[in-house]
Amino acid sequence: MAMRIGILTSGGDCPGLNAVIRGVAKAAYQLMDDVEIIGIQDGYRGLIHGEYRVMQQSDFSGILTLGGTILGTSRQPFKQMRVIGEDNIDKVKNMKANYKKMKLDCLLILGGNGTHKTAALLAEEGLNVIGLPKTIDNDLYGTDVTFGFHSALNIATEAIDRIHTTAASHGRVMVVELMGNKTGWLTLYAGIAGGADIILLPEIPYSPEVVAAAVRKRAESGKAFSILAVAEGAMSKEEAKLKRKERLRLRAEAGYKQVSDQIASFVEEKTGCETRVVVPGHLQRGGNPSAYDRVLSTRFGAYAARLIQEKKFGVTVAMKGNTVTENKLSEIAGKAKLVSPDDQMIQVAKDMGISFGD
Ligand code: F6P
Repeated sequence: MAMRIGILTSGGDCPGLNAVIRGVAKAAYQLMDDVEIIGIQDGYRGLIHGEYRVMQQSDFSGILTLGGTILGTSRQPFKQMRVIGEDNIDKVKNMKANYKKMKLDCLLILGGNGTHKTAALLAEEGLNVIGLPKTIDNDLYGTDVTFGFHSALNIATEAIDRIHTTAASHGRVMVVELMGNKTGWLTLYAGIAGGADIILLPEIPYSPEVVAAAVRKRAESGKAFSILAVAEGAMSKEEAKLKRKERLRLRAEAGYKQVSDQIASFVEEKTGCETRVVVPGHLQRGGNPSAYDRVLSTRFGAYAARLIQEKKFGVTVAMKGNTVTENKLSEIAGKAKLVSPDDQMIQVAKDMGISFGD
C-alpha cells in the first residue's frame, strides 16, 4: 500500500516554500518504496473544499530556486475555523472528510503561527499532521529560525543599503518600514545589517521625543542623514496602552496610513530635517530563496520525510542550535517568539550606538 502524503502551504507566502516541498518529496521517494503525494490547493481552503491533485515526481523538479508556492496559499483565520459562516460550511468537518476522501496517511502543513494553531487543532481531531516552520517574521515558537526569514532579510537589507546612498546624497532622514506586525526580528536584523541609526520594533514602544533627539544628535554631530528601520507594527509608548484596533483607528483619524508616516511627520516637525518614507512591503516576500534558505528548507523537508517514515505525527519541524529536530504541535501552537528587550541582539545594537527610541 502506498504511503499517501498530503501537502499544503498556508498563510503569507515566502521564498523557500517550494524548496521544502521538493525536500520532502525527494527524500520521501528515496526513503520509502511506494509514495503518493497529494498537493492541496491554496492552503486550508483547498482542504475545506476538496481541491487537490495527485502530484508526479516531475512536479518537484526545477522548483528549488522558485519563489512563492506551486500549491498556492490563502489566509484562513484560525479564529474562524470552528465558526459556521453564511455558507453553512463546517470547516473542521470538511477538512476531516477530505483527508479521509484522499485516503491520506498524513498531512504536511507549511506555515506560520496561525497555520500552526489550525494544524494543532487537526492533530487534536485525530489527523496525522506534521508542521513545517515558515515565516519571514521568524516568530514561530520553539525554533531558532523559520524558512523565508533569511531571504526576506537579504531583501530588506538591500533596501536599506540602497536608501543609504540616496539619504547621504540628499542629507535626508529616511524611514524604511519593514514587515512584522507583532514582532520585529526582520527589522532588528535588517537594521543591524544595513547600518540603521534608529530601529523601532513592536516589542519596544518608542517615545517620539527620544527618536527625534537621536536624529537631532546625529545632525548636530555633522551626520546630515539618518536611517530609521521601523517594523510595521511599531508603536509609541502612548499607543502601546491601547488595543490594536483603537491604535489603528486613531492613527487613521490623524491621517496616517501607516506607522512610518506618523514617525516621519513628528521627526520632520521636531528636527526640521527633510524626511521621506519607503515601504518595501511585499517585495520582502517575493523572488527566489537565498542560499541559506535553500539549505534550511531542504534540511527541514528531508527531516519531515524521515518523520513520515517513522510515523511520528503531531509535531512540527524545528531548528535548535544547528540541529534539525521537532516540537509537539500542542506545545508550540498559540505561542509566539517575540524579541525580548533583553535579547543579546538588542544589546549589540545599543553597543553600536543604535537607538530604539526607548
Ligand atoms: O506573516 C508574514 C507577513 O508578511 C507579515 O510580516 C505581514 O504583517 C503580513 O504577512 C502581511 O500579510 P498580507 O500578505 O496578507 O498582506
